[in-house]
Amino acid sequence: MWLSPFYPSPQADAGYDVADYRDVDPLFGTLADADKMIAEAKARGLRVIVDLVPNHTSSRHRWFEAALAAAPGSAERQRYVFRDGRGPQGAQPPNDWQSVFGGPAWTRLPDGQWYLHLFDSGQPDLNWDNPEVRAEFLDILRFWLDRGVDGFRVDVAHGLIKQADLADWQEPQEILSGQEVDQPRPPMWDQDGVHEIYREWRRLLDGYAGERVLVAEAWVEPAERLARYVRPDEMHQAFNFEYLLASWTAPAQYAVITRSLEATDSVGAPTTWVLSNHDVVRHASRLGLPVSGGRPNGIGIGDPQPDAALGLRRARAASLLMLALPGSAYLYQGEELGLPEHTTLPDEARQDPTWERSLHTQRGRDGCRVPIPWEADAPSYGFGPTDASWLPQPPSWAEYALDRQQGVPGSTYELYRTALRLRREHGLGRGPLRWLSSGDEVLTFTNRGLTVLTNFGAAPVPLPAGAEVLAASAPLDGDAVGTDVTVWYRG
Ligand code: NOJ
Repeated sequence: MWLSPFYPSPQADAGYDVADYRDVDPLFGTLADADKMIAEAKARGLRVIVDLVPNHTSSRHRWFEAALAAAPGSAERQRYVFRDGRGPQGAQPPNDWQSVFGGPAWTRLPDGQWYLHLFDSGQPDLNWDNPEVRAEFLDILRFWLDRGVDGFRVDVAHGLIKQADLADWQEPQEILSGQEVDQPRPPMWDQDGVHEIYREWRRLLDGYAGERVLVAEAWVEPAERLARYVRPDEMHQAFNFEYLLASWTAPAQYAVITRSLEATDSVGAPTTWVLSNHDVVRHASRLGLPVSGGRPNGIGIGDPQPDAALGLRRARAASLLMLALPGSAYLYQGEELGLPEHTTLPDEARQDPTWERSLHTQRGRDGCRVPIPWEADAPSYGFGPTDASWLPQPPSWAEYALDRQQGVPGSTYELYRTALRLRREHGLGRGPLRWLSSGDEVLTFTNRGLTVLTNFGAAPVPLPAGAEVLAASAPLDGDAVGTDVTVWYRG
């Protein structure tokens, strides 16, 4: 169970702006509640991973408040990235970097200095060349390890170290699709210096009893570069965003699966798989967009709308394919309901800083963060006691509610349960995967005695005579597997 940040925060970026790393925001409860939750999760055989946000703090963190109160050049400012500006009176930012959420990555203070924020202005970047910052995070890790957490999802793991000269950078900064291993690195991402930090953290975790893990959130491509984060003395796993971004075609899926397995095998780490999270359009909608794959940054009223039926059909096929792959699969709350993106969210309701910072050109990620429906007929679909929910839920979500799907054969929820049970029973996470076919339209592989077939093509594909079907993402037509369908079978 991975929890996104629950620490005291002004919520400038849904809690990824942490004001105090050692407490719980009153919005969510208390530290005692966190302790209880960790204990109860353990009692149920669940492990808990908390989100660690080391690239930046909140601008309301006591360190940043001290930095604002202190003079340029002071020790307080050395914990962050403060610089004088360029041009007459230093009125231009120190370099041309853009915030991931839009607009410049620098904000100027009344005393004339600028501070760096790769994300929102409420998220000043820490200076990881400062030993005090390193010591502080080792202590934060200990704080949560001592409370019994099983690990950390490390936010922006590829961003902590910046190239020393803070050189200008013209290219699109966030996603580096198609990068080759030895291409020049953007000066703010994936700098070699980050690895030393994770080696130190790994030594700390290894000193704790039980299995404690570090999981990198690093938007780094290609897979060979990402694999450097999971070398034996660094993190345990890294989210595989190249997989999430791959197009829904047989050649693209074959290529990304093969490449991912090879890259992590080369360093002896498990491969990971992920289709949805709180930063991307839910895959039940993404795969129904006119051009599938990619990472559209939010869908809103007036944008090209996904084909809901196509999206759900492909999402079920994609999830069943993913859950047959060796390695670790990460699921995002709501995907087990086949939940689509909320694409008709009123703009006034938006919380994602992207909407304002991009001057209303990017809708942002709110559409995948709407509280999920538990009960079709209850206020806020059972999420809370009243109809008020953090982001408004659309009226069309009753049909996705858990209580409409539980025990209903063929529902997306029951499909996930079947797949997860079989995955566990057959040890699919441990592999190995062997390809039987990798054509332009159909992929077939075996894993631990199961055969998995996905049909991406227009023509139905017959199963071999006598095949015993264990799971299918859509009903078969006799023995034929239709378009955008995955089947697990024996024989
Ligand atoms: C990645 C997180 O997943 C995202 O939600 C957040 O906005 C950025 N990092 C900044 O912390």
